Amino acid sequence: MKTTQTNNWPATQLADEDFEFIRRLVYERSRISLSGDKKILVASRLAKRLQQLQLPGFPEYCEWLRSPAGEGELRFLIDRISTNHTCFFRELKHFDYLRETILPAWGAAARSETFQVWSAACSSGEEPYSLAIHLAEHLAPAESARWQIEASDISTRVLEIAQRGIYEAGRLDAVAAKLVPRYFQKGAGDWAGQFRVKETLRRRIQFHHLNLLEGAYPFRAQFHLILCRNVMIYFDRPTQESLINRLSENLLPGGHLMVGHSESLSGIKHSLRSVQSAIYVKPA
Ligand SMILES: C[S@@+](CC[C@H](N)C(=O)[O-])C[C@H]1O[C@@H](n2cnc3c(N)ncnc32)[C@H](O)[C@@H]1O
Repeated sequence: MKTTQTNNWPATQLADEDFEFIRRLVYERSRISLSGDKKILVASRLAKRLQQLQLPGFPEYCEWLRSPAGEGELRFLIDRISTNHTCFFRELKHFDYLRETILPAWGAAARSETFQVWSAACSSGEEPYSLAIHLAEHLAPAESARWQIEASDISTRVLEIAQRGIYEAGRLDAVAAKLVPRYFQKGAGDWAGQFRVKETLRRRIQFHHLNLLEGAYPFRAQFHLILCRNVMIYFDRPTQESLINRLSENLLPGGHLMVGHSESLSGIKHSLRSVQSAIYVKPA
């Protein structure tokens, strides 16, 4: 790795050819497609990284990425490029549908199986913890032991936050006030202003580092519900189609898939039936 200042190249200036290289690499490895107008965004997200690595500019950064030693950096690069915005109880209509339609139907079928949920791009954990709170609140006492959540993301940075389950008070605004003491432990002293998801919920969620577009998924069970929200938006149509079909294979017959409200499956060939905006069911 070069560490000397070779010229006065300003680290934040990203030449078209370097942007093109980064864009292709990110696409090949994560299928996140960065449009041309994302150049400034990419440059600003990576500028601090150049400083940390003491690299004089993007040409050297790309050179390093091309070298065998740059393989580990790729994970960091994808971490920085992916957009991880999320919040508790995002897109509330999905939670309403879960409570009003999916859970009663599952309970009425009086099965002995575990209700299996997968939060497939879980970011920093707000989505799977919201699901966990919702299941803990709305499943009948007899069923309260019979649910499990798998949660996965491509970004190790956000997964670490998710696994810790510690959030600033302001992040809990969308959690009903009465639920906060039930499911969160309030920090004191150095931890004042922070809340940690209680262990009783944390142990019900398994977190996985997983690229949705590569390799076999590590789950033995099929799912009653998969949430894959606000991630497909970064993929092109063929990638979206293959992802939706892979996710469908991991749904039980009668299982539901929820996608982000700004993500549509129109124009994609799939075998699911639409039941409500951004909610699909796998025919039994
Ligand atoms: C905008 S967040 C959405 C979080 C949450 N699902 C929600 O709707 O609030 C998108 C997440 O998708 C993850 N992601 C992007 N590409 C991925 C891939 N190929 N495999 C798995 N996760 C991916 C990002 O790391 C990011 O955390």
